[in-house]
Amino acid sequence: MTGSEQAVAVAHPNIALIKYWGKRDERLVLPCSDSLSMTLDVFPTTTSVRLDPAADADTVVMDGLPARGEPLRRMTTFLDLVRERARRHERAVVDTRNTVPVGAGLASSASGFAALALAAAGAYGLTRDPLALSRLARRGSGSAARSLFGGFVVWHAGAVDARDPDHASYAEPVTDARLDAALVVVVLEAGPKSVSSREAMRRTVATSPLHPAWVTASRADLVRMRAALRAGDLGAVGRIAEHNALGMHATMEAATPPVRYRTDASAAALDAVRGLRADGVGAWATMDAGPNVKVLCDLADADRVAERMRTVRGSRVVVARRGPGAVLRTEAA
Ligand code: DP6
Repeated sequence: MTGSEQAVAVAHPNIALIKYWGKRDERLVLPCSDSLSMTLDVFPTTTSVRLDPAADADTVVMDGLPARGEPLRRMTTFLDLVRERARRHERAVVDTRNTVPVGAGLASSASGFAALALAAAGAYGLTRDPLALSRLARRGSGSAARSLFGGFVVWHAGAVDARDPDHASYAEPVTDARLDAALVVVVLEAGPKSVSSREAMRRTVATSPLHPAWVTASRADLVRMRAALRAGDLGAVGRIAEHNALGMHATMEAATPPVRYRTDASAAALDAVRGLRADGVGAWATMDAGPNVKVLCDLADADRVAERMRTVRGSRVVVARRGPGAVLRTEAA
């Protein structure tokens, strides 16, 4: 199969309700445990990939500026994998635009590598199978495997003794979820984080005595989460998600040296969420590799939750709903 030489893809970030925190295989990006997320309808990434037979290196423009250093290296390594699979040699011209601050724990690598995987697969003429694309996106950034799909999505870690571990680890939609919820995104700091999630994860697995216990607990959380989604029980979904996220942060704070993403502003936001609950509003927090807080609540309560979260000093609040999976926008040759 030949590629269409150029493709543009759009993907949205996802926020994990059961977190991915720790790899059992760095090269293949195989996680220690399954995770489960909700794809958002805000902050899309749009990425175009065009093959340039005359070029001797990939060119990547990120939000209007040439990418260099680690971000460029990660994208080039990813494109090498796509080329190897497509048995093609042309270098690519990549243009990627985020609408979310990069590196602030707002899942830009998830939407970024999901869009890149889809656009690169389109341009180089690789697979269109969504599960295969999720495996491919996973190699760029683990959480990107989940952004291929809309709504609630589960990413299977795959059996440790699987004959083909790369094949065994993919994401797919949770088709029996009976829940429509809002995630109120509370941006507290939009700058890049001090420690990348990749490094923080590595350090946690290597040094945190709490990590094995969290992985065990997380597996049980996932089973309970799937049942709560099936039952449409927002309270249970929220409680499990908050517990899972706070446990993840505890594991990394117990690493050597500790990784601490929570700031005073995060603590104030978590207090505001507790305050909402004390007032009888169903609201539960989750946090990723950064200080920002996301609040899960009923769609009907989203405005009230957003209003309260805006009282946290320095916050910028965006209400997100369930968003769509990644799509190929154009494929003009
Ligand atoms: C805290 O997917 O960014 O957001 O695979 O190393 O690129 P790499 O990590 P990444 O980690 C995301 C971690 C998280 C939790 C989650 O999204 O499940």
